[in-house]
Amino acid sequence: MDISTSLFVLTASLALVTGQTSQRLGACPTLGCVFPPDQADFLPGQYFDLRLEVHAPVNGSEAFNDGEPDENFSVIISKEGGEAKSIAEFFDIAEPAIEKWDFSWYEDLFAEDADTPSVVNVASKIYRRLAIYEPGNYVVELSYYGDKKTTAEWVVRPLATEKKAKNVILFIGDGMTTNMITAARLLGHNSINGKYQSLLQLDKFPVLGHQMTHSIDSFITDSANSASALYSGHKSTVNAMGVYADSSPDAFDDPKVETIVELLKRTWDSAWGAVSTAAISDATPIALTGHSRSRYQYGSLVDQALNSVTNYTWTNQGGPDVWFGGGAEQFYPGDGSYEGKDYYEAFAQAGYDISLNKTSLLEMGNSRKALGVFCQSHLPVWLDRNVYTENLADFENDPLGSESPALDLPGLKEMTLKAVDILHHRGGKKGFFLMSEGASIDKQMHALDYDRALGDLLELDDTVRATINHLKAIGELENTLVLVTSDHGHGFDVFGGVDTKYLAEAETGRQKRTAVGVYERSGLSQYTVPMEGVSYNTGPNFPVNWDPRYTFAQGLAADPDRRENYRVHKSGPRSPVSSTPGFDEVEDGLFVDAEDATDGFVVNGTLPVTEASGVHSLTDVAVFAMGPCQEMFGGVYGNVDVFYKMASCLGLAWPDGTPPKPIGGGFGNETRKG
Ligand SMILES: *[C@@H]1O[C@H](CO)[C@@H](O)[C@H](O)[C@H]1NC(C)=O
Ligand SMILES: *[C@@H]1O[C@H](CO)[C@@H](O)[C@H](O)[C@H]1NC(C)=O
Ligand SMILES: *[C@@H]1O[C@H](CO)[C@@H](O)[C@H](O)[C@H]1NC(C)=O
Ligand SMILES: *[C@@H]1O[C@H](CO)[C@@H](O)[C@H](O)[C@H]1NC(C)=O
Ligand SMILES: *[C@@H]1O[C@H](CO)[C@@H](O)[C@H](O)[C@H]1NC(C)=O
Ligand SMILES: *[C@@H]1O[C@H](CO)[C@@H](O)[C@H](O)[C@H]1NC(C)=O
Ligand SMILES: [Zn+2]
Repeated sequence: MDISTSLFVLTASLALVTGQTSQRLGACPTLGCVFPPDQADFLPGQYFDLRLEVHAPVNGSEAFNDGEPDENFSVIISKEGGEAKSIAEFFDIAEPAIEKWDFSWYEDLFAEDADTPSVVNVASKIYRRLAIYEPGNYVVELSYYGDKKTTAEWVVRPLATEKKAKNVILFIGDGMTTNMITAARLLGHNSINGKYQSLLQLDKFPVLGHQMTHSIDSFITDSANSASALYSGHKSTVNAMGVYADSSPDAFDDPKVETIVELLKRTWDSAWGAVSTAAISDATPIALTGHSRSRYQYGSLVDQALNSVTNYTWTNQGGPDVWFGGGAEQFYPGDGSYEGKDYYEAFAQAGYDISLNKTSLLEMGNSRKALGVFCQSHLPVWLDRNVYTENLADFENDPLGSESPALDLPGLKEMTLKAVDILHHRGGKKGFFLMSEGASIDKQMHALDYDRALGDLLELDDTVRATINHLKAIGELENTLVLVTSDHGHGFDVFGGVDTKYLAEAETGRQKRTAVGVYERSGLSQYTVPMEGVSYNTGPNFPVNWDPRYTFAQGLAADPDRRENYRVHKSGPRSPVSSTPGFDEVEDGLFVDAEDATDGFVVNGTLPVTEASGVHSLTDVAVFAMGPCQEMFGGVYGNVDVFYKMASCLGLAWPDGTPPKPIGGGFGNETRKG
C-alpha cells in the first residue's frame, strides 16, 4: 500500500471536514476509532465496553488503501508511568474476533443533493464489560495501517467509596431554562411594586450551579445523550443513550457504559424508580437503563428496563422498583411492544403491581414493585388536566389500547409522591434513587405552546415543593440529596406585554404588531389578577387567569413559520405549522397552520422549512441542589459532572484493589455491601 501519498490526501481533506454539518463518525475524526474516546472519564469500577474500528473509505474525499481496512491493528493501554499492555492482558480477558461491515455517509449538503454518499469499509473488535479500579490517567493507543495511531486519554476519577446521602431525587425539567423559570414565576406569583409576594420552590434552594450540555460530537444536544451524560458520566451522540455510537448497522451492539441505577443496584442494592409525564420509553426516563444508539427502539428499550441488556453480558439492574408515566403502546401487545408481546403481563409475571389510572395509583400498596402506565403517548399537560379539562375527551389514549380517552389521569405530583413512598419502603436502610421528569416543558416549547410549557414548569415546581414537604414528614429530608436540573434548553424568552384585544382588532399584520408593548409598555403581569367569574381552583402557585387581555409577548430563537396572537390555546395543544394542500411536505416544506391563532400576525421562522417545531438551543442550564453534598453543585461544570457528583455522594466508586470477580464473565450483579 502507498501510505505516503494517501496520507497526504487524508491530511488535506481532514482540515476541510472538521466541525461540520455531516460527520463520518462523530467522536472519530481519524480513520482509527477508540470508544470510549479521548477525554473520557470513568468512575472507578464502572463497567464499559471498548470498541475499536479501523476505517477504509472506498470513495469520496477520504478514499484510502483501496477501501481495504487494516484487520491487523493492535491496541495497548498504559497507566501513567506504568508499562503498556495489550487490552487482553491488562483486563485478563480473551481476544475477541474481528468484525467487518460497511456504512455510507454524505460529506456535505452538496453530496446529499447529488445523492453521492461516501462508502466506508470497517474492521473492528469489541471487548465487553471491562472496568478500571485504580484512579489515575490512562492512555489507550490504537495502531493501524503500519504507522497510524489514534490515542485516547482516559481519566479514572478518584471518587468517594463511602455514602454521604442515603437517597437522591433528581428532578429533570426537560428543556427548562432560567428564562422559562423567570416567566413561570411571573405567571404564577403575585408581585407588588416589583417585589414578589411568594416565590417558586426553586427560588428557595440553597445552592445553584450551571451545567454545559454539549453532546460529544455536536454542540446542540437532544434528550437521549444529554440524559445519558447525566446518568453515566459519558457524553454521547444525538439519539444515543448508554453507549458510544459506533458505525455498525446494529443499533444494539454499540459499546455500553454503566448507568447510575445499574451501579447503585449492584453496589448497594438500593431501590430505584423513574417517573415522567412523557411516555416512560421516552429518552429521559429510558436512558436510566437503555443501551442503544437509537432512542426510537421504544419496545426493545422497555424490555431492557425490565430484563436488562439480554443481547450481551452486562449488569442486571433487576428492573425498576417504581415506573410511572405514559407510553402504553409499548405495553399492550401490538406493533409498539417488543416482539408484539404483552408487557403488562411480563411486568406482572416479574412481581409488579400494575396501575392504569389515578384512582388505582393512589390505592396501591407500598411494598411491591409498581408499574403505572396511565395513557398512550405522553400525558396530557397540566393545563388540559386542570384548566381546559374538556380537551381530555379529544385524546384517543386509553392505556389498554382502545381509541377512548384516558380521563382518570394522575399528575407529576401524585406520581412522584407515590414513588417516594414505595421507594422509601422498598429501599429501607439501603436508600433509593428517583428520577422525576416534567417532560412537556420541552414538548410544548417544541410546539411553541408557551402556556402549556410554563404550566408544566409550575407543575414541576409544585411537585418539588410537595416532595420536600413529604420527605420532611417521613423523616428523610436530611438524608436526601434533592436536585433539580434540565437536560438542555430552548431559546425561549419574554420580551414584552401584548394587548390581545388591540391585536385581534387591528387589520394588517404590521398594525397588529403595535399591540406588542416593550419596556415601559410591557406593564405588569395580569395572570395573577382574579377575573370576575373565573375560578380554576388550581390552588396557589399557579395563575388564577390564563386568558387575561394583557399577556406575554414571547417566543423562541428557533422556530418554524407561525402566526402569533399571544393568547392561550384553549382548545388543546398548539400546532403552529401543517402540511398544506397542493404542497409536498418534504419537497416544499410546511406552512403556517391555517387554523392556528387566526387573528394573529405571521412571523417567519428561522429553521429549515421542513421542521415542524422549534428546536433545542445552546444555553447552559441550572442545577438546584439541597441536602447532603449540596455544596458540590455550585459553580459551572459539564453535564457529565452531575453524574460524578451524585455518584460520589452515593459512594458508588469501587475501592481500588478489590475488583469483584469475575470480570468478563458472570452477570455482574454482585453487591459490594448490604
Ligand atoms: C500483523 O502485525 C504484526 C505486528 O504487530 C506483524 O508481526 C504481523 O506480520 C502482521 N500480520 C499481517 C498479516 O500483516
Ligand atoms: C461511492 O460509491 C457508491 C457506490 O458505488 C456510489 O453510489 C457513490 O455515489 C460514490 N460516492 C462518491 C462520493 O463518489
Ligand atoms: C437485541 O438486538 C437485536 C439486534 O441485534 C435487536 O433487534 C433487539 O431489539 C435487541 N433486543 C433487546 C431486548 O434489546
Ligand atoms: C381504574 O383501574 C382499575 C383497575 O386497575 C379499574 O378497576 C377501574 O375501573 C379503573 N377506573 C377508571 C375510572 O377507569
Ligand atoms: C414570510 O415569508 C414569505 C415568503 O416565504 C413572504 O411572502 C412574507 O411576506 C413573509 N412574511 C412576513 C410577515 O415577513
Ligand atoms: C445475578 O443475576 C442472575 C440473573 O438474574 C441470577 O441468576 C443470579 O442468581 C444473580 N446473582 C446474584 C449474586 O444475585
Ligand atoms: Zn430534553
